[in-house]
Amino acid sequence: MDMKKKSEDFIDQVLSEMTLREKFGQLTQLETVRAEQEEELKEKVRRGEVGSILMSVGATAGNTPQGDINTDFYNELQKIAVEESPHGIPLLFGRDVIHGHRTVYPIPLAMAASFDFDLIRNCYREIAEEAANDSVHWSFAPMLDLSRDPRWGRIIEGYGEDPFVGSQMAKAVVEGLQGNALDEVGSVLACAKHFVGYGAAEGGRDYCHAEISDYGLYNYYLPAFREAIRAGALTVMSSFNDLNGEPISASRYYLTEILRDYLGFNGFVVSDYAAVHQLIRNGVAKDDREATELALNAGVDMDMWDSCYINEGERAVREGRISVETVDRAVKKILRVKLAKGLFTSPYCEKKPIDYASHRESAKALAAKSAVLLKNEGDVLPLNRSAKVLLVGEGATERRSLHGSWALDGKVDETPNFYEAMQEKLPINQLHYDKNCESNITDADVVVVALCEDHYSSGENASISHISITDYEKFILKRAKVLGKKLVGVFFYGRPIAMQGVAEYFDAILYAWHGGCEVARAAADLLFGDCLPCGRLPVTFPRRATHLPLYYNCYSSGHEVNSYYGECLPGCYRDSHASPYYPFGYGLSYSSIRYGSVLCDRAELSVSEIQAGKRFCVSVEVENVGMRDAEETVQLYICDKVAKISRPLRELKSFRKIFLKKGEAVAVSFELGINDLGYYNKKGEFTLEAGDFDVFIGENCLTKNKVTVSLK
Ligand code: NOJ
Repeated sequence: MDMKKKSEDFIDQVLSEMTLREKFGQLTQLETVRAEQEEELKEKVRRGEVGSILMSVGATAGNTPQGDINTDFYNELQKIAVEESPHGIPLLFGRDVIHGHRTVYPIPLAMAASFDFDLIRNCYREIAEEAANDSVHWSFAPMLDLSRDPRWGRIIEGYGEDPFVGSQMAKAVVEGLQGNALDEVGSVLACAKHFVGYGAAEGGRDYCHAEISDYGLYNYYLPAFREAIRAGALTVMSSFNDLNGEPISASRYYLTEILRDYLGFNGFVVSDYAAVHQLIRNGVAKDDREATELALNAGVDMDMWDSCYINEGERAVREGRISVETVDRAVKKILRVKLAKGLFTSPYCEKKPIDYASHRESAKALAAKSAVLLKNEGDVLPLNRSAKVLLVGEGATERRSLHGSWALDGKVDETPNFYEAMQEKLPINQLHYDKNCESNITDADVVVVALCEDHYSSGENASISHISITDYEKFILKRAKVLGKKLVGVFFYGRPIAMQGVAEYFDAILYAWHGGCEVARAAADLLFGDCLPCGRLPVTFPRRATHLPLYYNCYSSGHEVNSYYGECLPGCYRDSHASPYYPFGYGLSYSSIRYGSVLCDRAELSVSEIQAGKRFCVSVEVENVGMRDAEETVQLYICDKVAKISRPLRELKSFRKIFLKKGEAVAVSFELGINDLGYYNKKGEFTLEAGDFDVFIGENCLTKNKVTVSLK
């Protein structure tokens, strides 16, 4: 008998023996508890009233300190489930392992800036290994919410404003977490979240209403989820927000018609924390029973935290509001995932040794690749080893915020701060740290200002309206400026900030993000040229927050005043220039790169041949004309010039990271085909239209280097 049939028979058998209450138990996820409530939780597990445990406490776990994971406790709970609960169904343990476990890697937005998705995948392999060793079966990552609003605190958990980058990220994280086989030791189930539109919250206000057109949904917000499903994600989390007025956790349209029928997802959906109960506040349910009915019928299979399903489910079935078939379908999906994870055969966590030192090396490598060199006037960087450095700013001694939000298991005391990292680079007589820039040091060659965003200012429920540096940092900056030295800013920030009124102070800026437990050392390496800066922005840095939303893959208006991305002067505002301060894809190296003309191997192409799978080639010569080696991210954008619907003025379709020695030139070529030229119409049908396409290849989205190809 084949394995699949065997599994299905097993599930049918178990299901036929379960009471309705036990079935609702499988659909229930409870939060782990403080010590005094442990006995009560164990009793619920014993009665078969719990299917999964959320291994953290609190509605916003990302910024709430959680204790160390006690593997013995989880093994004990599991033993009760396996040996004492009615059918011995193992528990599924889930935790927010978002960008690291004990080893903290850069926040996901920073990871995306590396454009190194192989490295990201490897890092998630390590993350999974560490988490699995601490009883975690299931991580609530990746977060795939496209966001164009840096005021939104959770922009740091995603990949920014581009669906192509989002898809790459989705694939890398899912593959990294899940490894070759889900039931292997060191593999962790991924959860694609938050489905869908959470990142489009109006005004960047967390949990708020979002409006997304059908066209926008298919082309911008769904691609990353499609890719996560293709990569094998078996769980999806429904989002808190309402989309166009439909609270997602009650929406059969989004959770069943779009997610399952359209995208082909066949795993299970877990609600977000208390999202079922919150349907009352959303104004679509009058009480928990109605909320249960709406959510389960919509397609939420597992109820996180609020116990609505276990408390109200049986009555709703008795009253005919939920069918037994709907309950059975949800239970089956969950049991299938538990089987796939191997929990019926290996339910317990057995600790094994982990090479944390090598994981720290990867975290450092990724932090270095994620950092973006935004400015380097007069080649002030890299710093000379003989330079005398005055280091200022309280960011230099910060540790916890370097991890960023959602670093539940990071060890702050194992995280070097930036002052320590600089001490590793310079002898004592060449480095002076003056937090508030009070002393009048005149013999310094350069002043390095360390700026750090508090991790509480980003993450869940941590949106802000003033996306800039703090008043204290501004004050320090002014003091530093009057010293008349070259000024280098190192930004340990989570979100992108409005750069007008900030960037002008500096000769050089390294944006190192909340880059994880090794970011301080990575930043110091970059400052001294011990590794090369190569990060590129996955999100626009605006001049002012009042220009938001501002994103590169925008449309052309009929009026020239609104030309591409605010580039045209005088521009669409009378009082300010709304072009990006730093555009999408932007980032410098320590060298200068020259791009040759874009060439295409075909002058004309036909729709039918492209539809039949034919691909064509575009290429460019890229030369390092500067004085140092460089790692360049060659970016390819298209613009579909005339279509039935306005198409974005630029869309990233491919990129290539290349290493160029000083003076070296290489030809870089890309193959393009139907996936690059087509788009989803508002019915969600993939469409390819005849017409001209501009193919741009260059250093960021503002490149004008292009060739036009005609599709007849
Ligand atoms: C709420 C967050 O929105 C979600 O991302 C997270 O996974 C859950 N809480 C569990 O902590």
